[in-house]
Amino acid sequence: MKLLVTGGAGFIGSAFVRLIAGATEHSVLVLDKLTYAGNLENLAPVARNPRYRFHRGDIADLNGVSQLVADYAPDAIIHFAAESHVDRSILSPEPVFETNLRGTFSLLEAARRHKTPRFLHVSTDEVYGSLEEPHEADETYPLKASSPYSAAKAGSDLLALSYYTTYKMPVVVTRASNNYGPYQFPEKLIPLMISNALEEKPLPIYGDGMQVRDWLYVDDHCRAIFSVLQKGREGEIYNIAGSRSLPNLTVVKEILRITGKPESLLTRVADRPGHDRRYALSSAKLERETGWRPEVPFEQGLVETVEWYRANADWVARVKSGAYRDYYEKNYGSRVSA
Ligand code: NAD
Ligand code: TYD
Repeated sequence: MKLLVTGGAGFIGSAFVRLIAGATEHSVLVLDKLTYAGNLENLAPVARNPRYRFHRGDIADLNGVSQLVADYAPDAIIHFAAESHVDRSILSPEPVFETNLRGTFSLLEAARRHKTPRFLHVSTDEVYGSLEEPHEADETYPLKASSPYSAAKAGSDLLALSYYTTYKMPVVVTRASNNYGPYQFPEKLIPLMISNALEEKPLPIYGDGMQVRDWLYVDDHCRAIFSVLQKGREGEIYNIAGSRSLPNLTVVKEILRITGKPESLLTRVADRPGHDRRYALSSAKLERETGWRPEVPFEQGLVETVEWYRANADWVARVKSGAYRDYYEKNYGSRVSA
């Protein structure tokens, strides 16, 4: 198969490309704008693979995307590209609208025009919003997005599914819980805390730190996407849950334990506006229909992730130079200790 992978230079997209290049005979063309989150270093392990190609472009450019799909004629589009961070979406929502909504629209239109045989839209459990104990969202759970990020993802999910209903386009949607693992940009909880802990900088805990997230190792996520690509039914949604649900504070204390750093680094800061308290997800449907299961226990995945950040200090230093400092100041500078 020829796969067109959008956002393939980001955290999860690059893990997917490395998986496809290493474990299958499929060819991959990555379409990526290389925003602050896109990094060709993430694709260095596949750079010499003859079945891999890279194209720099914006998914919101309908003509460009349409031409690319016409020329490459992919058997499937796997759509990862997004503005993916809640805090950034709160600070500046416009790129979120452009990429997550207009960008998804352009890709769907290009796929419709050129009759792409499969379109897999990668989404998130955040579209279900915050759930009270003991509820878990299955795929029929109502949408209740809280941030510009999750609202735009929910909108893009509905748009993708409407192309199935209206045009009979072969669309499938996946919704995964919080990912962690190597190559994650240090703006999300786990890589930010690992990176700050290794540098003995304060670890900023939003509010009381008792918000709950369900943690999915990135390679487990990529294997699930590959299963859905092969076996998922058209017009269907598949949740992809992680191996462990934990309060943020527990996760961050575990990072301090693994890195051997003191708990005095924990710093309470002002809470995120509209902060979702708890995400909880069931992937019973995916497990039943494809046989997929998460394979990496959280404790093991976290130790391996810390080791990766320790061993890749140069990668971290490069992504944290320049614009990262401006973002850090903008997001954390005004958050006085709570
Ligand atoms: P990321 O921020 O690490 O990477 C996003 C990639 O998209 C980058 O390479 C970036 O350059 C590219 N991109 C952004 N705007 C673009 C545009 N207009 N045109 C082309 N490329 C563009 O994101 P991630 O964490 O790897 O997430 C990938 C997908 O998975 C997203 O759709 C996200 O919503 C979804 N998701 C993420 C998580 C998570 O925990 N990170 C969980 C569930 C679902
Ligand atoms: P994040 O990784 O941004 O993912 P999401 O908000 O999409 O679930 O955040 C995970 C949790 O960690 C969330 O409850 C917010 C919290 N958090 C902090 O407490 N401090 C931080 O510096 C960050 C980035 C997140």
